[in-house]
Amino acid sequence: MIIAPSILSADFARLAEAAAAVEGSADWLHVDVMDNHFVPNLTLGLPIVQSLLAATSIPLDCHLMIDDPDRWAPPYAEAGAASVTFHVEAAADPVRLARALRERGARAAAALKPGTALEPYEDLLPELDMLLIMTVEPGFGGQGFMADMLPKIRAARRLADRDGLDLWVQVDGGIAADTIEQAAAAGATAFVAGSAVYGAADPAAAVEALRAMAVASPGGPARPGRH
Ligand code: DX5
Ligand code: ZN
Repeated sequence: MIIAPSILSADFARLAEAAAAVEGSADWLHVDVMDNHFVPNLTLGLPIVQSLLAATSIPLDCHLMIDDPDRWAPPYAEAGAASVTFHVEAAADPVRLARALRERGARAAAALKPGTALEPYEDLLPELDMLLIMTVEPGFGGQGFMADMLPKIRAARRLADRDGLDLWVQVDGGIAADTIEQAAAAGATAFVAGSAVYGAADPAAAVEALRAMAVASPGGPARPGRH
């Protein structure tokens, strides 16, 4: 199971400190790259990711909410990101892009916006290490969890299990104490949390609390055969 605090909710002038605050508790650090085209918000890009890679030993989970990931995503893998997520809505050739990411030593992941159906991407799943089911509209932290995404999480889990794929199912958006158990029970094994971690007085304790809730969830990641 993976808990990935999102630095979108941290102080952008103190990112190294935000990483240090969850070192030892977070499995990954989630980095939201936004280009103000694919989403109506602008955050950070490759130079800051490179600086973060040098500033922390926590593996980076780069979530690219950008146009033309076919061109712009592979450099994140080359830089040393542990996992690189592109949006299927933006990719011209998702299979080729996933292969390019893996060849460059990263885990390859694809993300689906809430309005994007899973079924057209069934054939893509064997090319992926992780599928990100967005549980808010991408662009901003602090939004409410969309419970109507639970069937999509279950469907992704079912497809992965049916085909014997080692596919991690990640959820991102509104993951907090009151929602993580539902996502875990539906089959998510990787959890992004921004405001629930960096809005807390003790971010490391918040990570551990979320982990405990996900593990305790009936049918959650603690079930044999899960990550
Ligand atoms: C939203 C980002 C999320 C965001 C989640 O587009 O992809 O990673 O940081 O923030 P919370 O956990 O506050 O919903
Ligand atoms: Zn994200």
